[in-house]
Amino acid sequence: MGHLRFDAGDVTLVLACAVGAPPSLHYWGARLGDEVAVEELERLSIRQGMHGAADVDLPLSLAMEPGLGQPMLHAFAAHREGRDWGSLFTVASVEQDADAATISCRDERTALRIDYRIRFDTVTGVVGISSTLINEGEAVLDLGEMATACLPIPATITDVIGFTGRWTQEFGQERMPRPTGTYMRENRSGRTSHFSYPALLLAGADTDESQGEVYGLHLAWSGNHRLRVDSLTDGRVVASMGALLFPGEIRLAAGESYASPEIVAAYSTSGFSALSRKFHAHVRGKLLHPEMRAKPRPVHYNTWEAVYFGHDTDRLKELATRAAALGVERFVLDDGWFGGRRHDRAGLGEWQVSDAVYPQGLKPLVDHVTGLGMEFGLWFEPEMVNPDSDLYRAHPDWVLQIEGVEQVPFRNQYALDISRAEVADYLFECLDAILSGHDISYIKWDMNRDLSHPGGANGQAVAYKQVIAFYSLLDRIREAHPQVEIESCASGGARADMGALTHCDRVWTSDSNDALDRQYIQRGASFFLPPEVLGCHVGPAHCHVTGRRLSMALRAATALTGHMGIELNLLTDRQADLDQLKAAIALHKKHRALLHDGDLYRLDTAAQHLASGVVARDKSGALFSVAYVASDPHILPGRLYFAGLDENRSYRVKLVWPEGWQALKAPSLIEKLDLANEGAVFSGAALLRAGMQLPHAKPESCLLFYVAAS
Ligand code: DGJ
Repeated sequence: MGHLRFDAGDVTLVLACAVGAPPSLHYWGARLGDEVAVEELERLSIRQGMHGAADVDLPLSLAMEPGLGQPMLHAFAAHREGRDWGSLFTVASVEQDADAATISCRDERTALRIDYRIRFDTVTGVVGISSTLINEGEAVLDLGEMATACLPIPATITDVIGFTGRWTQEFGQERMPRPTGTYMRENRSGRTSHFSYPALLLAGADTDESQGEVYGLHLAWSGNHRLRVDSLTDGRVVASMGALLFPGEIRLAAGESYASPEIVAAYSTSGFSALSRKFHAHVRGKLLHPEMRAKPRPVHYNTWEAVYFGHDTDRLKELATRAAALGVERFVLDDGWFGGRRHDRAGLGEWQVSDAVYPQGLKPLVDHVTGLGMEFGLWFEPEMVNPDSDLYRAHPDWVLQIEGVEQVPFRNQYALDISRAEVADYLFECLDAILSGHDISYIKWDMNRDLSHPGGANGQAVAYKQVIAFYSLLDRIREAHPQVEIESCASGGARADMGALTHCDRVWTSDSNDALDRQYIQRGASFFLPPEVLGCHVGPAHCHVTGRRLSMALRAATALTGHMGIELNLLTDRQADLDQLKAAIALHKKHRALLHDGDLYRLDTAAQHLASGVVARDKSGALFSVAYVASDPHILPGRLYFAGLDENRSYRVKLVWPEGWQALKAPSLIEKLDLANEGAVFSGAALLRAGMQLPHAKPESCLLFYVAAS
C-alpha cells in the first residue's frame, strides 16, 4: 500500500506510506473528489534538484530525522553515546481500518522503530496523530527531541496565530505573518502554561471567523512542549509539535519505548468558528465521559473569593443555604479546609480535615449541603507541598530537586516528585480516604506553580514523567470513585488542554473573574474547547484581580454562557444584585442544554464589541451574546449579523438579558419591535444577510438575544 487516504466533510488527508520509503503527509486540505487519484497528486509534486540545494529531491517525513539530509529542519534527535544519531526511518508495515491506521517505520542501522498511530474522525475530519519510539538496539538510547509528527502545510497559508498570555490573562491570540525560517513557541513550565498554549492556527491572510482556510493543531499534553512552523527556503512549510525534553530525560534501555503526546489537528475551508466546532465535536465525542456529557452541568458555588482561608462551618452553611436559594446545584469548598492550611504559607500536603477549623469534621457541612439538594465538591492541590508542613518535615526528599540547587519557591510551595510510586501512593491514599469518607462528587484539582527544577531521585529530569504520573493519578482516582467529576485548575487556565481533558471533566478557565477580561479569555479558550468545559463564575462586584467594578448584569451575562458558577460573598452582596443573579441562573438553566451541546459561532465585529452565538444542532434556536466592551466611536453600533441559522426558517428574536433593559434614548429598535417582551419574527435569511441594527448601550454591558424557530 503506497498511501492512506481519509475523506470527511470539507477535508481530505493523504499519507504517503510506501514500504521502504519515508512516511509523510502527502496532502491535507480541501476535500478532493473521488476522481482525483493519489498518483496524480504525486506526479504534480515532482520537484527538481536545484543549484544551492541538494541534487536530488529531498523528501519531507513525519519525523524529519537527521538521516533525511534536510539542512533546515530536524525534529528528531537521539543517540547512543554519540553514535546512532543519523536515523532514516522508512515504512516497514501499515495497518488500516476505516478510521485509523498504524504506520510502523524502522531504521535497521540505528535499530530504532517509530509507530505512528493515526485516528481520523470520519464525520469532522479531525485527525489525531501520536507516535511511539522503540529502542530495538542493545545499548541505551538518549532521546533529546521527538516531534509527535511533522505536517506540511501549503505555502498559501501565510498567517500564524499563537495563543499566549499570563496568569489572569489567558488565551490571548497573536496573529502574525509566517516568517521565513522558524516560528517557535517553547514551554518549560512543567504544566500546560499560561504563556504558551499548546496550539496553533495557520490561516490564509483573509481568513476570519466565517470564511477562509485554516489549519488548527493542538498538542494534547499538559507539560513542556515545543511548537514550530518552519518555512523552508525550498518553499515548503512544515508544522510540528511535540513534548520538549530536558537533557537525559528520556533514556531508553533495550526494548523500552517513548510515547509522544497526541496532536489533534483539524482543517476548515470556512473560517475559525467552523474549525472550533470541529475541535468541540472532538472534545465532546472523544474526550469527555459519555455519562458526564449526559448529565446537565450543575451550577457551582465556589467559596474562594467569598472566604479565602477564613473557613467557619456556620458561615459556610449560611453561604450554602443562600446559594441553594439562588438555584445553585453544587457547592465547592476551596482551599483552606485541611491540615495547617490557614494561609498560603503552610499546610499543603496535609490532606486531612483540619481539627482546628472543623472540630466535627467536614461531615456536618457536607450533610448540610447535600441536605439542601446540592452536590459537594472539594479543592485539592495534590502535587504540592509547603516547606512548612508535616509532609515536608517527614519527607523533604520527596520534592523535585536538582542536586546542589534548591528548588525555587513559587507561592511558598515546592512540587513533589509524583513520578515516585511512594509519593503517588501517599496522595492516592489521602484523596481516597477523604472521598470514601464523605459524600463528595467533585474535585477541584489545582496546581499553583511551574516546575522549576524537575529533577528526580536518580538525578534525571522527570518533567515528562510528572505529566504521565499526573494523568495516572487522576485515572486511579476516577477508577476508584467513578461518580466524582474532576476539574483541572492551575492558577486558572494553566492546565486547560485536551490532554488534561482526557482525564478530567472541566477546566478552570482563569483566576480572573473580571467579566470584561473574561469576555476575551473565554472567547480565546473557545477556539479549542466547548463552552460546557469552561468554568465561568460570577465574581464580586469589585473584581479582586483588576480592581474594576462591574455590574451584575455584565458579570452574570458573561458567566452564563459557559459552565456557570458564582464566587462571591452572598452574605454581604446587595439584594438587588442577588435577585438579578437568581434570574441569570434561571436563564442559564433554561438554555443550558443548548449552550452545552450547540454549535458555537464567534462573530466578527468592530473592536468595541465581542459577539458570539450558540445555535442548536437542529437550528431550532440560538442564544446570541453581544458584549459592549468599550466606548463606540460611532453614535450607534453596527449591525448584528446572526450566524448559523437556517435561512429557510423564520425566527422570533427576543432580548432575554438584562431583564428590564432600558435604552439610553428610547425608543430604540428593542422597544419599537417589542424585543424585550413578545419579540419579533424575521426570516433566517434576513437575520443572516441583512443583520439587525444594534441599540446603543453603555460600555461594559452585554445583551443576550434568544432566537427561536417559529
Ligand atoms: C488558585 C485557583 O485558581 C483559585 O481558584 C483558588 O482555588 C486558589 N488557587 C486556592 O489557593
